[in-house]
Amino acid sequence: MALKLRPLSYALGAEVCDIDIAKPLSESLFGEIHNAFLDNGILLLRDQHVTREQHIEFSRRFGELDRHDALPRDRHPEYPELLMVTNEPKANGKPGDGKYTGHLWHSDMSFTLQPSLGSLLRSIHVPPVGGDTMFANMTKAYDDLSDGMKKLIADLHGIHLGKRKIVDLSPERAAEQARINPPIAQPAVRVHPETGKKALYIGEKVECFAGLTREESRPLIEYLCRHATKPKYTYRHQWRDNDIIIWDNRCTMHAALGDYDDDQPRHLERTTVLGTPSGYIVEEPPLH
Ligand code: SIN
Repeated sequence: MALKLRPLSYALGAEVCDIDIAKPLSESLFGEIHNAFLDNGILLLRDQHVTREQHIEFSRRFGELDRHDALPRDRHPEYPELLMVTNEPKANGKPGDGKYTGHLWHSDMSFTLQPSLGSLLRSIHVPPVGGDTMFANMTKAYDDLSDGMKKLIADLHGIHLGKRKIVDLSPERAAEQARINPPIAQPAVRVHPETGKKALYIGEKVECFAGLTREESRPLIEYLCRHATKPKYTYRHQWRDNDIIIWDNRCTMHAALGDYDDDQPRHLERTTVLGTPSGYIVEEPPLH
């Protein structure tokens, strides 16, 4: 069966039409989905009425799954392969920890020594308006840089922090984050292991470059983020319930916009496919 694809934007992404992942998928059909994933950077599957087990089982076809040890408070208590992206309030009435997940432009798990190959995010309840997710094509963004800029960043390593806004950030919680997620340096340009294409590997979790001061690094980081998130490199996804988006973390980045009414539930669950080991721990990141 030839896969029916519909482009999602000029920059990246395709919708896979007429597919139901709750049904058995042959090796050859999965092979077509995998090729479409490599060609398009992100895939959208609408109307997927699946259980948690089916979500996990389908995700495993892309590779071994992360059990989210780097984000222990956000994983499902019985399914560690599922990361909860939810604004469901906590017992104390404050917004849940997952409310701010993904609000900065990032590639999943870049702040660990095994950044993700890809992620599969399933929408269960989404607000009637807003709560969209933006995606950027980091291969196109890299290709369009000048030769001079490509040369300048070729050997740079960005220091990625596992930071995000937390509603109740106590000193204990901040210490826990620092212990579980020390700063990790990752190459600013990575070669995709399957397509062989170069892609920018940068984002708003990059604090500075290794070997440069913070003051020296910031203008370049901000320029590269601004460049990569220009409309011509992006796709904005308006969620419906029961969507699954699969994205390639090696050549895209994404950001949850958070532009929705807080009284409306937004509940999504994500599996994260492990990628190849990359990067190193930075003992003393520059402070200035
Ligand atoms: C994520 O970064 O995995 C979450 C994205 C979203 O909530 O839209």
